[in-house]
Amino acid sequence: MTNTWITRAETGADSPAVRAIVVAAFDTPSEADLVDALRADPAWIDGLSIVATDQDGKLVGHALLTRCHIGDTPALCLAPVAVLPEYQKTGAGSAAIRAALDAARDKGEHYVTVLGHPAYYPRFGFSRASAYGIGISIDVPDEAMMALAFDSGHPLPGGVVRYAAPFGI
Ligand SMILES: CC(C)(COP(=O)(O)OP(=O)(O)OC[C@H]1O[C@@H](n2cnc3c(N)ncnc32)[C@H](O)[C@@H]1OP(=O)(O)O)[C@@H](O)C(=O)NCCC(=O)NCCS
Repeated sequence: MTNTWITRAETGADSPAVRAIVVAAFDTPSEADLVDALRADPAWIDGLSIVATDQDGKLVGHALLTRCHIGDTPALCLAPVAVLPEYQKTGAGSAAIRAALDAARDKGEHYVTVLGHPAYYPRFGFSRASAYGIGISIDVPDEAMMALAFDSGHPLPGGVVRYAAPFGI
């Protein structure tokens, strides 16, 4: 197995393979249904659904950024991130996340939020969101809600994160 993952934006033809990755990673179709619902939602931003492939083009990982808001300020939500179980912990998830963040920065985005494991996401620049006065309307461990700003000229705003409708938050 190679650890040199290739990343690119998903194309229309990738949807079934992305769905298969997300279903396999989470053991239930809920997150895959969420991805499909987000594709049909105004929160979807072309170019910010990133796949990681092996050298032969096989899709093994996926990271998705969609529009959310911190208070009234536009931001991005990183969710879900998924890697085929047999390829987990080989860098595919990290590659997809870094490529998604790079693509967002290139599009002129400033802020990204993530709800996830506090041992994983800080390596990409995320830190505890509550330190910036950022909150969430559901009960989650404080350290699980994280955020990042791409540049110091645009510091994170405070406010409650408002998710796209398909998240149901
Ligand atoms: C979480 C996930 C996307 C990470 O992708 P990955 O390609 O397996 O991870 P990478 O190879 O990029 O990074 C490996 C590191 O992530 C850590 N890691 C992997 N899954 C983790 C998890 N669920 N929680 C905390 N850390 C995790 C590994 O311990 C390893 O840490 P180290 O570098 O300090 O040794 C992937 O494991 C996955 O699909 N898991 C199931 C679905 C899920 O939980 N998604 C995240 C919630 S949206």
